[in-house]
Amino acid sequence: MSNDTLTITDNRTGQTYEIPVTHDTINAMDLRQIKVNPDDFGMLSYDPGFKNTASTKSAITYIDGGKGILRYRGYPIEQLAGKSNFLEVAYLVMFGELPTEDQYQKWSYDILHHTFLHENIKQLMDAFRHDAHPMGMFIATVAALSTYYPEARNIFNEKDRMKQIVRLIAKVPTIAAFSYRHSRGLPYVYPDNDLSYAGNFLSMLDKMTQVKYTPKPELEKALDVLFTLHVDHEQNCGTATMRVIGSSNTDPYSAMAGAAAALYGPLHGGANEAVLRMLMEIGDVKNVPAFVKGVKSRERLLMGFGHRVYKNYDPRARIIKKIADEVFEITGRNALLDIALELERIALEDDFFVQRSLYPNVDFYSGIIYQAMGFPVAMFPVLFAIPRTVGWLAQWIELLNDKEQKIARPRQIFLGEDERDYVPMSVR
Ligand code: CMC
Repeated sequence: MSNDTLTITDNRTGQTYEIPVTHDTINAMDLRQIKVNPDDFGMLSYDPGFKNTASTKSAITYIDGGKGILRYRGYPIEQLAGKSNFLEVAYLVMFGELPTEDQYQKWSYDILHHTFLHENIKQLMDAFRHDAHPMGMFIATVAALSTYYPEARNIFNEKDRMKQIVRLIAKVPTIAAFSYRHSRGLPYVYPDNDLSYAGNFLSMLDKMTQVKYTPKPELEKALDVLFTLHVDHEQNCGTATMRVIGSSNTDPYSAMAGAAAALYGPLHGGANEAVLRMLMEIGDVKNVPAFVKGVKSRERLLMGFGHRVYKNYDPRARIIKKIADEVFEITGRNALLDIALELERIALEDDFFVQRSLYPNVDFYSGIIYQAMGFPVAMFPVLFAIPRTVGWLAQWIELLNDKEQKIARPRQIFLGEDERDYVPMSVR
């Protein structure tokens, strides 16, 4: 008998099953043979929220939540944030290896020269209300792009596929910037292909009458690092959505609109916005203890705290905390930082948070930096979606190349009514 097995005894029948174990995992389909009667459906595993279910094998991002480790393609996030840049990391995550000089030049050129949107997209975006949430505009516009590139449906044609990947990574900052300008009632600024990825984004947000916009190097760098930190995070809610939609062979624009919609929620990428609103509501350091009391009595969540995978300090939060100081030297200190620091101090000492391993996550400090840089709060989830586009697309390619993948279709445990006869309304 191989040691790499799990022996299960079904106490309902006394029967024993030997199930193979690979990578510390059993295949859920191996449970199906466990039955009381031959015509039973067979055993399922029940896992709301997929807390203990691996939906895929992946070689992109590694997280050790207990130790607070995050690596893209084997490279620690601290090294990538410190030594690399967003477009190089995007290449790494997409293709599996760091680019050579030539590969990097071509990749950067391609991305920086596909930044323009079809002119009709501007009219589409104009149709939104003046106060439309930029994330709603972002989701809708990404979905609309699928109608501009019908060849995007050829998802098994590598050349067509790569074209859409470049377009999406290139165009998401333009969509994001246009949604911001729309909310401000400002004219759209066309991309400047001479600038870096982050620099061009800042230009599209800020440029007014200057002939040539020059981003502040410190802010451009900080934004590039923030983008790098958000590139991928394995099978989170948005990425899982990308894979679920992608599994029906949908085009990448439609799938990505769904992934962005999943990211929008306050428990996921919308948390950075929720953190800022929470800090503004607390308003003063002296109100922190009362707020924490409310969290402990379950009236509220402490937004920006806790994570499904990290049961230790989120390594991205550590890096962001450091960048904050560099940004504040340029922008001036964000008054909300003191409230955040006090919240963190109290929470990390308090049994409620310690027992549940609740630590600051990536969203706890990112919003404070974004606000100091002048972004309106509603833009925060969009700032998350721009770099995550890379992760979504890399995971989508991995899905398409994975012969073991099938259309995503979970099972249910039906607990509703048994068959019953229709009763006419007059006698109900
Ligand atoms: N404030 C107060 N209590 C919390 C929090 C929080 N932020 N997060 C978790 N808990 C408690 C939760 O009530 C539960 O307590 P108990 O076991 O007594 O019922 C325990 O901690 C475990 O939490 P859980 O809800 O089972 O954990 P989960 O893995 O299902 O949820 C989470 C993870 C991120 C959704 C959750 O921690 C949360 O809602 N955090 C606040 C929102 C947030 O910051 N989200 C950003 C996540 S990081 C970036 C991203 O994913 O996009």
